[in-house]
Amino acid sequence: MIYLDNSATTLIKPKEVLRKINLAVTKFSANPGRSGHKLSIAAALEVEQTRQKLAKMFNLEDENNVVFIANCSSSLNLAILGSVKDGGHIICTENEHNSVLRPLEHLKEQGKIEYTVATQSKIGGIRREDIEKCIRKNTYMVICNHISNVNGDVCDIKEIGKLCKERDLLFLVDGAQSAGHEKIDMQENNISFLAIAPHKGFYSIQGLGALLVSKPECLSPILFGGTGTNSLELIQPETLPERFEVGTIATPAILALSGGIDFVNENFNQIHDHLDDLTTFLNYELSYLPIKIYTATENAKGVFAFNIPGMHSNEVANILNEKYGICVRGGYHCAAKKHEALGLLDQGAVRASISYFTTFSDIQKLIFAIKSMLKCKKMI
Ligand code: ALA
Repeated sequence: MIYLDNSATTLIKPKEVLRKINLAVTKFSANPGRSGHKLSIAAALEVEQTRQKLAKMFNLEDENNVVFIANCSSSLNLAILGSVKDGGHIICTENEHNSVLRPLEHLKEQGKIEYTVATQSKIGGIRREDIEKCIRKNTYMVICNHISNVNGDVCDIKEIGKLCKERDLLFLVDGAQSAGHEKIDMQENNISFLAIAPHKGFYSIQGLGALLVSKPECLSPILFGGTGTNSLELIQPETLPERFEVGTIATPAILALSGGIDFVNENFNQIHDHLDDLTTFLNYELSYLPIKIYTATENAKGVFAFNIPGMHSNEVANILNEKYGICVRGGYHCAAKKHEALGLLDQGAVRASISYFTTFSDIQKLIFAIKSMLKCKKMI
């Protein structure tokens, strides 16, 4: 079996992650922050260390502003719903995942906000000018998907971050497909909120998302409940992270993330370059074939989208799965506007997504399978 669905979740975990998962369920499985006994404190210390590691990696000043939540979609919901300004306007991009588009549409339906979907004026991704022309008097937030989960388009968060600073706008970055293999500096890029998916770029396990918050004063809780602190008060605590973290947190996934951060820190350049090499190789080899490619050659970030003319993407994905043992994602990738922008509303797209553990041989087998399918169709 060849696994090329790493944008959905990573299959192969590094030993640092496996070790931490083992420790999480053998040594640190008490509930952190809920009791004063030494097992609870030991688990809490591990969780705090993970916050510190994330804050350091993304240059967030205060590690207490790392909020753990159920998944990346929940962290985006927290940032959008928790910072809502009645009568305001938000700019997002055509690359957004439905975890941004659906909360925006919900707020719009409630009559609270208006939003504009910025489109790409140039191939490859969203740039400053694409956002700038959408700004209105009542705009208060810009939301940018950093790397598209559909085709790997890259948003210029550095320049857009400068724009947000100049215009005093909140800046929410969806780092689901970039955190772990792209450098993201929250202070340098003026990012107010950064959402990440630890089970992707950090090889953690499912059931955890994180929101890194540099503007806590602009965020209100959207979930309420037990925090292990101020237990006699009926009002949610003011202090972070517990202001935004309710109920028992996902300690095993947080510890797995901790191991994943160590792995990424140790191998960052190799991971980045490996994704670049394999995506470039795949794009180059397929560029000679009569197929449609949706990933710009310069966007070699591990996400690659294509279609075989005359075949629905799900049909191609099913054949790859059943005949060649290759796991890819077909259809629509929870990103309605991106499929519309790429003209893929009928067909969807086949997406191959790469991790550090994908090999050249895996990619060669995918190329072979695509060539065989084209031969069957007498297209080559
Ligand atoms: N958003 C994830 C994907 O792109 C699940 O597959």
